[in-house]
Amino acid sequence: MSQISIRMMLISSAMIASLSLVSTSAIAAEEKSLFERLGGTYAIAQTVDHLVNKLYVNNGLNANPIIKAIHDDKSTMPGFKVMLTNWVVARTGGPKIYQPDMFGRGVGMKESHAHLNISNREFDIIMNECKNTFYTFNVPEKELGELMADLESFRNEIVTFPHKE
Ligand code: HEM
Repeated sequence: MSQISIRMMLISSAMIASLSLVSTSAIAAEEKSLFERLGGTYAIAQTVDHLVNKLYVNNGLNANPIIKAIHDDKSTMPGFKVMLTNWVVARTGGPKIYQPDMFGRGVGMKESHAHLNISNREFDIIMNECKNTFYTFNVPEKELGELMADLESFRNEIVTFPHKE
């Protein structure tokens, strides 16, 4: 092989290597978790705190007597804020801190909502309150879209009323 063609081969393999470096770093930038982009646990806990305060006094939700009983008992509020924060942290790619315990907490969305008779209308109310909360805390459009789409994907697990045969 001539010296020129060896040099050409070296140049083109160096180009391929640098191109793949560029694309690897582009992917790494794209792959920052939603947890990180939202600002971590403190930022998430702040939005959950605001959201849950709104949900507890929402008349549309409290038209459901099972929900009303939980919301009227204010002692449920701090624990609910903890569990919801843990769920969002884990769900958005943070530490896996939403875990089942011996009290039946920390389980899947189907199991933790089955007894609440939640309707599509109630699910929509929650989605609206979530969106309002994200606007209140200036969550950027891209992250807001990702959060809303992810929450929407749980509708089928959470809505059980009217009961399906
Ligand atoms: C995508 C939407 C939703 C998500 C991500 C979500 C998430 C959660 C989580 C993580 C818990 C805690 C479970 C535990 O304590 O172990 C929970 C409980 C609960 N959720 Fe939801 N939920 C959603 C929709 C709804 C809707 C539409 C309602 C209707 C009002 C609702 C009402 C409740 C209630 C009342 C509890 C139990 C609170 C208690 O017993 O103290 N959730 N939810």
